[in-house]
Amino acid sequence: MLYVVNNCSCFITMLSLESLLKDNGEVRQCCDIRKPTEVGRFSLDFQRRFHHDRRQMVCYIPAEARRNGTLLQLLDLNDGYKSPRFVKRDEGVKERLDHMLQWMVCNKRRFAGKSHFHDVKRQKVEQDQNIIGEPPDFVLWRGHLTKLMCTPFENRDGWSMACQKLENTVYVSEVETKAAAQRKASSTEREKLMTYWGVRFEGYMTGRFPKPPETISVRTPKEETIINTNEAFCSVFRTRVNKRHSVVYGAEVDCCKSVDVLSPPDCYVELKTSRKFTSRKQEENFYRYKCLKWWAQSYLAGIPQITCGFRDDDGFVESIRDFSTLDLPNRAMTLHNSWNPSACLTFLDNLLQAIKEIFQAVNTSKCTIILSWEPGDKCVSYELSHSPKDCFLHEWYINDMT
Ligand code: A3P
Ligand code: MG
Ligand code: MG
Repeated sequence: MLYVVNNCSCFITMLSLESLLKDNGEVRQCCDIRKPTEVGRFSLDFQRRFHHDRRQMVCYIPAEARRNGTLLQLLDLNDGYKSPRFVKRDEGVKERLDHMLQWMVCNKRRFAGKSHFHDVKRQKVEQDQNIIGEPPDFVLWRGHLTKLMCTPFENRDGWSMACQKLENTVYVSEVETKAAAQRKASSTEREKLMTYWGVRFEGYMTGRFPKPPETISVRTPKEETIINTNEAFCSVFRTRVNKRHSVVYGAEVDCCKSVDVLSPPDCYVELKTSRKFTSRKQEENFYRYKCLKWWAQSYLAGIPQITCGFRDDDGFVESIRDFSTLDLPNRAMTLHNSWNPSACLTFLDNLLQAIKEIFQAVNTSKCTIILSWEPGDKCVSYELSHSPKDCFLHEWYINDMT
């Protein structure tokens, strides 16, 4: 695939969805993605400050106080909402790829080109210096990959991604679409409360190291639980998509099981909430639609377990269930008109390839490429921008990395 583009800022051209789902005219059944390896981690503290360590990692508290999945005590997800115990991150601050860039700067010596291994044994150097490998083809957030990958089955939210190239690496950072900005600005009180429910559930299911409570039935008193959405623990992963795209991406990780038994990412657990099923149809729709994003998000980070709190309409969790990430596609594929993982991966592989080819065609790294897609579009459109407002690689980053 080669896309010829004009080197001007207003040129918009298209990549057809059909072609992105195909390889040499055939719909590809399987696209290989290597199991991601964790190559680093960082934390964002209660004031959203970056720390190159694991201080924000929290541990998973098994909900032992359940009988056949049903909790012996309901979890009230409204607890702490509209109280000083809820500290909400300022979503007006656009962080773009900044924290990942900070991590890249801290780890730049671990990305070594082939020349690095010139006359020394490669393995020895890798061990001694904790070398990750050659600089990756792409650096971005896991959430961006999730959005791109789910495109073939998405019918609600569009996306827009800015891509910038520095040396041989393409950096991708999401641009908020007008629709998303409007949705956020007009979100109702109920929607805000429901968003809180998700983070409050995380508060119930996690504890601080080194001595977390053993089960959620003996948790610290509720009055002491602070929910601060500035805090995050992020793991940095590296994988290879279809043997041709090396990708490094950061992912916020909800919690971790005992590291004595399992190593990352096998010890990580993704937490979710969902409305309880009251009919078979609702359960089917969960597998047919909602769990695609759950699967993509956890699959990309190699996280094997998704633990879901099933709540009622008033925000009380009645039962907790563990899902195996790798089982979700099997369940979905038994349903008529559902999603399938190979279409997602093929689409992602082809889109990454298209981005590389666009940069080759424009033959300059002094521009930003903006890719956009809206539900119903048969094509991903892209345009070149020379506007500084679309650049997200800071001068400090460019100076440090080149
Ligand atoms: P639920 O997904 O259980 O509703 P994640 O599951 O990705 O770890 O996110 C944790 C919670 O953060 C979500 O819980 C939801 O409440 C909230 N959340 C997720 N994405 C969000 C977004 N884009 N904006 C605001 N809140 C979000
Ligand atoms: Mg999370
Ligand atoms: Mg979660």
